[in-house]
Amino acid sequence: MATVEADVFASPEADDAVGLASSRGAIARATMYVALAAAWIATCGSLYMSEVLGWIPCLWCWYQRIAMYPLAVILAAGLIMRDRNVPKYALCLAVPGALASTYHILLQKVPAFARLETCVMGVPCSADYLNLFGFITIPMLALTAFLMVIVACVVALGVREEGAGKHYLTRGPLAVLSPAASVGLIVAAVVALFVLGGAMTRSRQPAPTITSSLPAAAQADASREAAAALYDQACAGCHGPASAGMQLIRAEYLRGHSDLEVLALIRAGRSAAAPDNFSGKAMPANGGQIGISDEQLLALVRYLREVKGQ
Ligand code: HEC
Repeated sequence: MATVEADVFASPEADDAVGLASSRGAIARATMYVALAAAWIATCGSLYMSEVLGWIPCLWCWYQRIAMYPLAVILAAGLIMRDRNVPKYALCLAVPGALASTYHILLQKVPAFARLETCVMGVPCSADYLNLFGFITIPMLALTAFLMVIVACVVALGVREEGAGKHYLTRGPLAVLSPAASVGLIVAAVVALFVLGGAMTRSRQPAPTITSSLPAAAQADASREAAAALYDQACAGCHGPASAGMQLIRAEYLRGHSDLEVLALIRAGRSAAAPDNFSGKAMPANGGQIGISDEQLLALVRYLREVKGQ
């Protein structure tokens, strides 16, 4: 890339205007490559959480994935092809992605939103697996990545031509590396990091332990109080408060089935199309909650019987 350097900078008439444009170009170039790294970290990170840690993505996680995964590919392809329009394509995905993350954060953090119950199947969208320092959740990390891409694209769109026939993406972020080599290195580094991290996590946990948002103490506790708390947390969203009689759980169903049969039903869930479905709505496997032990679930079944008088 030495020749490109020479073309732009060696001419005696390289005036201040070109100097300014190229330093802006350098910033835009650097931010676009940082955005590339952010999109790949977000992509690999989300796959790490679902495939290695076993956290089930909810509906809104999926909407954000739909924006983030192609964003990672489009940024890589656009930078390799030195396409100066890549910020425009990237914005088409990053802006809807950021909006989806924002809505998901509201679902988790604002009780009024959580009650909208967007997720009728699978994991409730208001479950937050990750809650660092009490406020950093998965959609917040996704929003950060989307915002980094948006900022980079806006900076890049403000850059004019650097020199005759050249623009800010003609070169890679480092003069010695071509764009293709730079993209290759960044993507390979991020993917390698997560594959390695995944392999290490797996080797440390032969049976992948699945965590839920329950406090550790509650997870081990199979007492009636713990069962009641578990019901409030995991089941009341759909079945209503225990004091209101647990809608959608029929007393005759409990009467006609053993504890283990009820446990098996809760484990497996019941699809809306199942022959024995009576409400037309689906019961998600494990109530959409992961990491509940059989002991806890049996305590929960006994609690259902107690409340329903069965
Ligand atoms: C996302 C909503 C949702 C959550 C969360 C949920 N359920 Fe359900 N559950 C349903 C629906 C809907 C039905 C009714 C299915 C049908 O019509 O057959 C149901 C049915 C059931 C039934 C069978 C009732 C019957 O009469 O056939 C049991 C037992 C049950 N749920 C227990 C639980 C427990 C325990 C939890 C918490 C760990 C839980 N559910 C969490 C939606 C949910």
